[in-house]
Amino acid sequence: MPQRKPLIAGNWKMFKTGPEANATARHLAKLVGDDATVDIMIAPPFTALSAVSGVIEDTPIALGAQNLYWEAEGAFTGEISPGMLKAAGCTYALIGHSERRQYFGESDDGVHRKTQAALESAIIPVVCIGETESEREAGETFSVLDKQIRLGLEGVSLRGPRDLVVAYEPVWAIGTGKTATKDQAQEAHAFIREKLAKVLSSDLALGIRILYGGSVKPDNVKELMAMPDIDGALVGGASLKPEIFAEIIHFGA
Ligand code: PGA
Repeated sequence: MPQRKPLIAGNWKMFKTGPEANATARHLAKLVGDDATVDIMIAPPFTALSAVSGVIEDTPIALGAQNLYWEAEGAFTGEISPGMLKAAGCTYALIGHSERRQYFGESDDGVHRKTQAALESAIIPVVCIGETESEREAGETFSVLDKQIRLGLEGVSLRGPRDLVVAYEPVWAIGTGKTATKDQAQEAHAFIREKLAKVLSSDLALGIRILYGGSVKPDNVKELMAMPDIDGALVGGASLKPEIFAEIIHFGA
C-alpha cells in the first residue's frame, strides 16, 4: 500500500487580521519546530496570506488559501486566481468548502473548474465534500458523496496522488461540536476512496489523502487518525489557537 503521509490542515475561515495571523503563525511555528512527521497547512484569509508566508517560510508549515477563481486573470471583481495564490506562496487551496456551497452558491460544476484551474497552477486542491444532517437522516449520504465526487472530480488531470487532497466534512459536524464517530467517518472515507478509484484510477485513489473535518479536537483526533482510510484532518475552530492546533498536529506523540 502506498504511504500516505498525514496532513493536518487549519482552516482559519474569516478570522484574524494580518497582524493577528502573523502572531498566530509565529507562535505555531515555534510549537511545531522542525517536526516533519506530518504535513501541516494553514489557510488564513486572503488579506493575511502575505503576513503569514514570511513567518512559515523555513518551517514545515505550508500555506493554503480558502478559495480561488478558475480564470487566470481578467475583469472578475473580487476574485483571486490560482496564479496569484501561487505567487503569494500558497501550496494548497480549499475548494468547495460547505460554507461556500451553503452561503455563496458554489456548485459541483464550479468545484470541478476550480480544481482543474488549481492543478494547472500547481496548487494542491483540497476538495471538500460532505452531506447535510437532513441528507444523512434521509439515508442519502452515499448518493450525495457519489454525486459530489463525480461532478467535482471526474476527468481532472493529476500527475500523481499527491496532487489532490479530498476532505470529508459532514456538514452537521462543522462547528457544532458533534463529530462523526470514527466508524461513521471510516465508512464514508472508504466509500470515497472506492469512488475515486472509479472516477480517477485505483492507483491514484490508493495514494490520495482523504482528510476528515468537523469538530476535530485534541481529544478525538487520535481515534480518527487510527482508522485506515483517514489520512489527516481539516480543522476549523481548533486551528485558531496555536497550542490547541499544535496538540492536534502532535496526535501521534
Ligand atoms: P470545525 O470546522 O473544525 O470548526 O468544525 C471544520 C471546517 O469547517 O473545515
